[in-house]
Amino acid sequence: MTGKSGDKIRVWDAPVRLFHWTLVILMCVSYFTGRWGGDWMKFHFWSGYGILALLLFRIAWGFVGSTTARFSNFVKGPMAAVGHLRELLGKHGPYDAGHNAAGGAMVVVLILAVLAQVGTGLFSADTDTGMVAGPLAAKAGDAVIEKATAFHHYWINVLLILAAAHVVAVLVYLVWKRHNLVGAMITGKKPVEDCVPPGKPAPRLAFGSSRLAISLLIASAAIVYFIVRAGG
Ligand code: HEM
Ligand code: HEM
Repeated sequence: MTGKSGDKIRVWDAPVRLFHWTLVILMCVSYFTGRWGGDWMKFHFWSGYGILALLLFRIAWGFVGSTTARFSNFVKGPMAAVGHLRELLGKHGPYDAGHNAAGGAMVVVLILAVLAQVGTGLFSADTDTGMVAGPLAAKAGDAVIEKATAFHHYWINVLLILAAAHVVAVLVYLVWKRHNLVGAMITGKKPVEDCVPPGKPAPRLAFGSSRLAISLLIASAAIVYFIVRAGG
């Protein structure tokens, strides 16, 4: 099918969209409950476990999910990322159904950065009061707890900068290129003229089954349950 200007095509599946917006909500919950401390830490831990399950799911979906969700579709190396940025400066394009090469690199960075925050959280503890401790802290020595806690406190600032850069990039696309990426992440659909040059056929995209997505999410939640239980 040749895409006509004005047509919209489905690019993001429901699992990727739900993953993204649930992640954003839980990141806010984790951030504020972490800052407030005290009784809020119970919610801090639960939202952290939720984030970990989401990340495990998303990594698995990146291998077996829909075309635009696959790492092989958007992890393209530094040259492609630079090429994309050059395209961004040009008059026409860029054209991307899924993540572009530069955005794809940022996606990997964001996933790994959030994983580092959650991973160190599992080993963090408030050593002054001894009242809050991540589920794996009991299994770790004092030196590990100290390093993990210091990293957890420091890394949140890096994460905030990355998230801000991510939102700025989305705004640049909106203001400069008139590509509404947020709308696409909500509805799953993009105008065909944002995906391919005029006259070119619309890309053929395959979508993963929701049964597989649900199974992977349950498996991810089970892994998190066993990690938390491993702490005793
Ligand atoms: C804590 C903050 C955030 C984190 C950690 C985060 C993380 C991510 C990740 C991992 C992806 C890749 C999605 C996937 O392929 O599964 C993504 C994509 C995206 N995010 Fe966020 N995000 C955050 C906040 C936001 C906010 C506030 C907005 C809205 C302005 C936003 C808009 C988008 C859009 C539009 C995409 C798709 C980009 C594209 O078309 O290539 N994100 N984000
Ligand atoms: C399983 C996941 C997590 C666990 C078990 C965990 C554990 C902890 C613990 C024990 C503390 C208190 C440390 C202390 O008082 O010295 C803490 C603080 C904090 N955590 Fe987490 N965390 C997790 C995930 C996250 C995530 C995903 C975020 C990102 C938004 C985050 C952000 C924070 C912040 C902002 C603080 C307060 C730091 C400060 O006040 O300087 N945590 N976390």
